[in-house]
Amino acid sequence: MKTINYLASIFIASNVMTITVAANEKVEQVFKNNCASCHGVQLQGAMASSLLDNQWISDGSDDSLTKAISNGIVDRGMPAFGHALSEETIRTLVVYIRETSYNADIAKIQTPTLSKQFKTNLHNVNTREVLSTSGIIWAMDFLPDGSLLYTLRHGELWLQSPKGIRTKVANTPDVWHRGQGGLLDVLPDPDYDKNGWIYLSYSKKTGKNASNKDIGITAIVRGKIKDGKWVEQQTLFEAPKQTHKNRGWHFGSRFAIDGPYLFFTNGDEGHQDDAQNLETQNGKVHRIYKDGRIPKDNPFYNQKGTLKTIWTYGNRNPQGLVIHPKTRQVWSTEHGPRGGDELNLITKGVNYGWPKVTYGMNYDGSPITQHTDLPGMELPVHQWTPSIAVAGMNFYTGKQFKNWQGDLFVGSLAKKQLHRLRIKNNRVIEDEIILKGLGRIRDVVTAPSGELFITINDRQSNQSKVVALSEVK
Ligand code: HEC
Repeated sequence: MKTINYLASIFIASNVMTITVAANEKVEQVFKNNCASCHGVQLQGAMASSLLDNQWISDGSDDSLTKAISNGIVDRGMPAFGHALSEETIRTLVVYIRETSYNADIAKIQTPTLSKQFKTNLHNVNTREVLSTSGIIWAMDFLPDGSLLYTLRHGELWLQSPKGIRTKVANTPDVWHRGQGGLLDVLPDPDYDKNGWIYLSYSKKTGKNASNKDIGITAIVRGKIKDGKWVEQQTLFEAPKQTHKNRGWHFGSRFAIDGPYLFFTNGDEGHQDDAQNLETQNGKVHRIYKDGRIPKDNPFYNQKGTLKTIWTYGNRNPQGLVIHPKTRQVWSTEHGPRGGDELNLITKGVNYGWPKVTYGMNYDGSPITQHTDLPGMELPVHQWTPSIAVAGMNFYTGKQFKNWQGDLFVGSLAKKQLHRLRIKNNRVIEDEIILKGLGRIRDVVTAPSGELFITINDRQSNQSKVVALSEVK
């Protein structure tokens, strides 16, 4: 390691000590003003070391980087910034370092070509296009006969038979297709053979607010498909009228069914402080019975003024929700802001902290908080900084990929990645990117054939595909 104590002391004397940072200054500017002279504008290293190569003097944890920036590393010539920069701003610098080095790393990953084999750590894989359509496929799942059900966000529910014949289901609910809203999750009842129920979530327009703006909610319904038509619809959940919002994003909403219970997510709907408010539906994971009744042992059932359906709170926008096939634990992925996407183990009554704690910062590079942890708030099991935009996920339970049994496959929108997570004792011990670049991956499902199905989407062309991953022996 180079020794540049002398240079550093000049900087400290002439420059660094006098810096004041305006509140909410953007991280790019903070870095340029304070750090780039030594570490390089692209963090690539100059007279001080690169911040991209994951070579650290310390243990390389967030804590140790925070300490290095705050207290300096006197004997190496890294000045202390604790007096000049707020704790929040120093937190944004750590996020920025993680973001930039991760982006440099993943830029080297090659995109496979559809229908050509590629290698992953544990299996060789082939891809096959199952279907292609315009619009955004938001969710998909299989019926017991092998038919594939999928939603198009602009408000269509489709069924593709095992022979590949596609039909659009008529009479599905009208959706509020605005921003991130529309027709969202679809899930057949685990007892579909007996009862025929299919669960749908969607954003629903419910009227106008005092300033004459449209308002809406995440609605949860179930119904049946008979003769190509959506029939016998029952409303399972709609939040109380006074909580309906006029924002068009963060609706959630994924389902998971465990026995008689239906879990669903409801994002913060663009009102982040509501995530800590137990009177509102947004920023929560809810639990109801499959028929919409509310279980009396829900954690806030007996607390006055709260919404009785709430199971957990402090959730920003969870768009992945699954039950572990063996332990029956509920797992969710949650979109962070810029940085701090989360994998959470969803446990009754727990506060996941948003927006009081987060590993991320605002999209414009200004701070949200320096806290990644506070008493009474649960840490994620795993977090991604930068955000990969975590979406749908699935524990692999098929017969094809022997070495992937029980691994959790997680789709990413922004980074167009498919992650394979190995979880042991509720900790992630491996996070492998097995596929990158084909498109935004919003949902992942194990097919009855043992293939792993993913949905991919290209924003520019507004085209989506369902792609099957199969094993190459
Ligand atoms: C005067 C030059 C100088 C400036 C300005 C400077 N650094 Fe450093 N920094 C160093 C040196 C020297 C090291 C020690 C590593 C090396 O020898 O290159 C270092 C190390 C670090 C480390 C590594 C800690 C570890 O455990 O390995 C981090 C993180 C870091 N700097 C961040 C920053 C940030 C963020 C800023 C701006 C707020 C900044 N530095 C400004 C010189 C500088």
